[in-house]
Amino acid sequence: MSTRSTKAILRVLNGEPVWPLPIWIMRQAGRYLPEYRETRKQAGSFLDLCYNPRLAEEVTLQPIRRFGFDASILFSDILVIPHALGQDVRFVENEGPKLDPITEAKDFSRLADELPLERLDPVFETLDRLRQSLPKETTLLGFCGAPWTVASYMIAGKGTPDQAPARITAYRDPAFMDALIDRLVRASTAYLIRQIDAGAEAVQIFESFGSALPPALFDRLSLNPIRRMVEGLKQARPGAKVIVFVRGGGANLHRFASAGIGDGLALDWTLDPAVVLPSLPNTLATQGNLDPLALIAGGEPLEKGIDHILGAVHGRPHIFNLGHGILPETPVEHVAQMIARVRGA
Ligand code: CP3
Repeated sequence: MSTRSTKAILRVLNGEPVWPLPIWIMRQAGRYLPEYRETRKQAGSFLDLCYNPRLAEEVTLQPIRRFGFDASILFSDILVIPHALGQDVRFVENEGPKLDPITEAKDFSRLADELPLERLDPVFETLDRLRQSLPKETTLLGFCGAPWTVASYMIAGKGTPDQAPARITAYRDPAFMDALIDRLVRASTAYLIRQIDAGAEAVQIFESFGSALPPALFDRLSLNPIRRMVEGLKQARPGAKVIVFVRGGGANLHRFASAGIGDGLALDWTLDPAVVLPSLPNTLATQGNLDPLALIAGGEPLEKGIDHILGAVHGRPHIFNLGHGILPETPVEHVAQMIARVRGA
């Protein structure tokens, strides 16, 4: 047996049911942790923190030290890709990301065609440090954004509730949209391959704005680009494991499953696993999907939410997680309670 397959998360991604369920949470390193806020102050800007291997390693390890999660997710951001391609990216305190919008074909003159990987060397150094400093049972996860989600920030220049600027661009200027998506598929695939080489054992692709695509655009802008990325990564690094998280992917989940896109599918919090899982192959790993607001509320809603998931996934390969990222106002004690209930089941 390889040493890799002894890690609970990797066993699940190989299709093996593991009980108690392994657990990690999306955005587990972040503002709900006082020690994160402290390190963040020292670092300067948010991007300075992403590109400082020593401090990025430290904030990646903070939730592992505190909670002993089964996976550690690299501390970085999905917007380092547009940044490395040459787009101006800033993170404005209490507002979120701001980019100089790329809206038409002539704006490509501001972007590199191929990802200059060396600009992301600090990220790969962070992974290399983590591979050495993590407990041996902890799986090291890399990640990137899916092309549509990243493109939607590149076009709007910021997050909007439904990323309408990118969606209207997809209708009005399909050639530009397809060229941008293609560039992101190539850049993101190269980035994930390099993350695997630097020590990531699995990667998660975040399609956080899957909910902002109508059926008419979904395959072209989300499913097919993600398929190309997963195939490209697996062709280059056959052992690499991939988790695909499509927020709002509901009706399309079974299509990701039947096309074999990803070793694991992450469910968002709108889905009921008791309804969705029976129609997915029972060797396909799933992940999720507690409502992040139930974790904020605590008490009975939290316990019921956890127990419902545990009941629905019992006997299947499943990784416990939230159905979207943890929010800054989450009480730290609730995270400890959640882990105790999942591990005590
Ligand atoms: O999960 C982890 O702990 C790893 C680190 C991680 C961050 N961002 C750190 C971060 C990951 C995996 C991401 C992914 C990410 N970034 C996504 C996809 C996941 C999702 O939640 O939907 C998206 C859409 C982004 C873009 C982004 N980065 C936004 C919209 C914001 C501002 C709003 C927010 O949620 O904080 C960020 C900033 C960001 N990325 C922070 C962190 C810890 C907070 C910045 C700070 O410390 O001030």
